[in-house]
Parts: sequence; structure tokens; C-alpha cells
Amino acid sequence: MGTMIGHDSDATTAENYRRFARLEAAGRSPAYERLAEAVAGDEEILGFLARLPPAKRQPNLLFAAARYLLGDPANPESLHDLVERRGGELAVLMLQRRTQTNEAARCAVLLPALALLPGPLALIEVGAAAGLTLLVDLYSYDYGGQKLSGLDPDAPVMSCRAIGAVPIPDAVPEVKWRAGLDLNPLDPSDPADVEWLSCLLWPGEEGRAERLAAAAATACRHRVEVHRGDLLCDLADLAAKAPGGATLVVYHSAVLAYLDEAERRSFAQVVRALGAVWLANEAPGLVPGVVLPPGGHRDFVLVKDGTEVLARSDPHGGWVEWLS
Ligand SMILES: C[S@@+](CC[C@H](N)C(=O)[O-])C[C@H]1O[C@@H](n2cnc3c(N)ncnc32)[C@H](O)[C@@H]1O
Repeated sequence: MGTMIGHDSDATTAENYRRFARLEAAGRSPAYERLAEAVAGDEEILGFLARLPPAKRQPNLLFAAARYLLGDPANPESLHDLVERRGGELAVLMLQRRTQTNEAARCAVLLPALALLPGPLALIEVGAAAGLTLLVDLYSYDYGGQKLSGLDPDAPVMSCRAIGAVPIPDAVPEVKWRAGLDLNPLDPSDPADVEWLSCLLWPGEEGRAERLAAAAATACRHRVEVHRGDLLCDLADLAAKAPGGATLVVYHSAVLAYLDEAERRSFAQVVRALGAVWLANEAPGLVPGVVLPPGGHRDFVLVKDGTEVLARSDPHGGWVEWLS
């Protein structure tokens, strides 16, 4: 904080907000589309952002922090007002928190791939946030009428449109052991952490808040461990704790965007050295060396072992299209 940022950096931040409005929020959250366009033209908010480190200037972080302080999603006027009157408080929150959106419905995309593996499974999720995407066998699923019961009858049902020959299993896979790894694990039993996760959701997206609350309650009942650590340095030690007699799977979703290209290549080497099955559910272009199927720029791709593109999916788990 306090570094003088030149005019060009301000222009880049404005461009980032415009890009966010047009490429990410458009068609998904009209409120955040309008808000991001407004930030791009608001000199006071851009000046506030320029005093934060570059990694802390993202729309998702600003909008979630504003929602946390305001109690409701911001609009252009309330955000301008917040920056003017409570800018210090807002900056502290943005420096302290990260974008760690944990979308339990992504389990519906991972489940068919996991169920094809020889069980029982030992699961490691890197970038697990609050561990909600580690509960893959506890949730129930509804793939457009084809239903599947999970092990916890009180856990939420993940609805997911299945396109193509999705290998929907008859039963959830047996999980013998599971662990998460995250730079900053969140605690599903801590109301402030769950509130932060709910502030990361976008207005206009139906069902996500209820699903988050139900998934967090499930995580509290089952107390899954998410260890603090970096996926480059600490994965091998965690993998060494996995029990024998189980297929070790290392997986992740919406995590590789946090790494630069060199780190993504190093991560691929780290996972390959473990001899585990590797499942990546990520935005296109992030798994090193993978040749992508044609598709929308927002769709995720599910890649096995860094080479085999199994499926394309909705970034929030709303649909999965099987390709292999
Ligand atoms: C957008 S969240 C995704 C959470 C979950 N995988 C899901 O799909 O809902 C990304 C998570 O990756 C974590 N993360 C980012 N870089 C990491 C790293 N180098 N090592 C471990 N975790 C990391 C972040 O802290 C964050 O919790």
C-alpha cells in the first residue's frame, strides 16, 4: 500500500473492469456487469484500487468486500459512497481476504470421472478452500432426472445437466481417505468465513447461496481436513500420508488461474511425479500442453492426467458435456 501507481496502471485497471463486465458478468449477472462498467469510469474508485497491490484490484474481490461491509451487493452509488466514507476499512478487508469461491456443484462434474476409477479412492484436492468440493460422495445428484443418492441424506442435491454420454454411475465411489490443501483454508464452521464465501457469489445467480449454506453445513458434520500449504511445495508431503490400498487421486477446480504459466508447468511435474491419477477441472488453456476441443471461452474442461480431455463443463457445475 502507498506505492504511487502511474496513470497507465489505472487505465489497465479500468480495462480489466470493462473486460470483466463484458466477458465474465454479461449474461450471468447484470448487476455486476453494470457495477464493473461503472467502476471503469469512476476516477475515485480507480484511485482507491491503484493504492492496493495489483493482485488485490480484481472485481471479484472488490465486489465481495463491498457486499461484506454493506450487507447487500453494491450498486454504483453505494460502492462509490463506501470507497469515499469507509475506504480504509474496505482496503483492510481486501488485503486480508482472497477470492476463494467454493462451488460444491462442481462435484457433479468430477463425480463421473472419479467413479470410473478403481476404488476405494484416496482424494487430495489442491486449492480446496473450505473443503466443499471434497465431499463428492456425501452429496446427492440429479443429472436431468437420473438421480444418485450420496451418503449423507441431509446433504444438498447437485443438479447438473448431462450432455452426451456422461458415464453417470449407479452409486457414489467409495472414499477411503480425503484431504485438502490450500494457501488459506477456510473453516465451514466459522460464520465469518461462510459469510465471506457467500459474499463471493454474484447477484442474479439462482440457487448458489442455498447450496453454499447446505454444503457448509455438510462440511461441518463431516469435519474434512484442509491443510494449509502451497500446491507446489506441500503436495508431495500430503500425498505421502495417503493410505495404501486405494487409488490416489489429486484433483482441482478453478485453481490454476491463480498460478502463472511457469508455476502451472512446475505443478504438472509435481503431480506427475506422484504417480497419482490427476483430474483438472479448469478454464481452457490452463492445463499445460492440452489440446482443447472447440468451445466457449467460459467453459471449463475436465482433463485426466494432463492429456485426456474428458469433458467440457459449466464453470459452476450446472452442466457437463462428455467428450471422450
Ligand atoms: C476459486 S477457489 C476454488 C475452490 C474449489 N476448488 C472449488 O472448485 O470450489 C481457488 C482456491 O485455490 C487456492 N489456491 C490458490 N493458489 C494456491 C496455491 N498455490 N496452493 C494452494 N492453494 C491455492 C485459493 O486459496 C482458493 O481457496
